[in-house]
Amino acid sequence: MKILICYFSGTGNTKRVVDKYVEAFKSHGHEVDTFRVENRNFNYNLEDYDKIGLAYPIHAFNAPAIIFDFIKKLPKLKEEKPLFIIKTSGEPLRLNNISSIKPMSILKKKNLRLTNEYHYCMPYNIIFRHTDSMAYKMWETAQKLIPIDAQEILDRKEVKLKKFPFARPLAFVFRIEHWGGRFNGKRYKVRDNCVHCNACVNICPTHNITVENGEFHFGKNCIMCMRCAFLCKQNAIKIGLFEKWKVNGPYTFQKPEKEEEDKHKKYCKKSYQKYFNRAEEKINKANSLINKENQIDEKFDEQTVKNVEN
Ligand SMILES: Cc1cc2nc3c(=O)[nH]c(=O)nc-3n(C[C@H](O)[C@H](O)[C@H](O)COP(=O)(O)O)c2cc1C
Repeated sequence: MKILICYFSGTGNTKRVVDKYVEAFKSHGHEVDTFRVENRNFNYNLEDYDKIGLAYPIHAFNAPAIIFDFIKKLPKLKEEKPLFIIKTSGEPLRLNNISSIKPMSILKKKNLRLTNEYHYCMPYNIIFRHTDSMAYKMWETAQKLIPIDAQEILDRKEVKLKKFPFARPLAFVFRIEHWGGRFNGKRYKVRDNCVHCNACVNICPTHNITVENGEFHFGKNCIMCMRCAFLCKQNAIKIGLFEKWKVNGPYTFQKPEKEEEDKHKKYCKKSYQKYFNRAEEKINKANSLINKENQIDEKFDEQTVKNVEN
């Protein structure tokens, strides 16, 4: 089977998840191509693929603007093909499920029919910094879930996330972030501790940061992905109105040696707990199924050996 996954990842979480999917599909002998939508020159022919995947981080309960720009330009397929959507977000609120409503309806018109939809909690790149142990736990959980979810996609077991009533207008209201990003992006500033390494200029997915006579300019194409501010080694970028919510520095995703104090442990406590419980349930169920299948295989092998010996 040939699979194409098109994705956007601002600060690396979604890419991590996509890479794990690629590994899972390839381990079953399938051919997988990936396309980063920020690369613009899309020269894959969707007709060549059996399944198409779309992956993105949730931005204000929606898909990021760059994803909308990308999918709107996709050609209409001659025949319907299955589509799977993969999302990552900092919190497990059900409200996040509405993010795929609009992309789904655009893609349906292109003959891509949603069959599977998965959501993984990954550490926040804005609002607040998750502790290293939480980031580790989220990634551990995702790594266990992804091979199971990938198998469901391959087995054509359809899985969709539950949506809210009135989800469509709700998602539309939150899409304020799409133009809000453009408005706020122009308010980004660079502090004096900047060492002019120009990393931000080089990594911005929309080439929105330019330098003139040593001065940084932030244009109108910011998509609020946070890549520049999150990855700035000097923590020198101020993100306009959202400065208080800024998160700086990549997560290690390693288990910390010492347990740190979690200042936000009460935030969405129940939702996180529910997410981890549901994940554990799914992982345990899949593992017990594998154990059963292994036992059947072992018995079958024993019986075959006996039959041959007789
Ligand atoms: C502008 C913006 C808006 C966000 N909105 C949400 C949100 O509505 N719900 C949520 O759970 N996480 C939200 N997040 C957090 C990201 O979805 C999360 O950290 C994601 O895993 C980042 O993925 P990436 O590293 O691939 O960009 C938001 C992040 C940004 C930058």
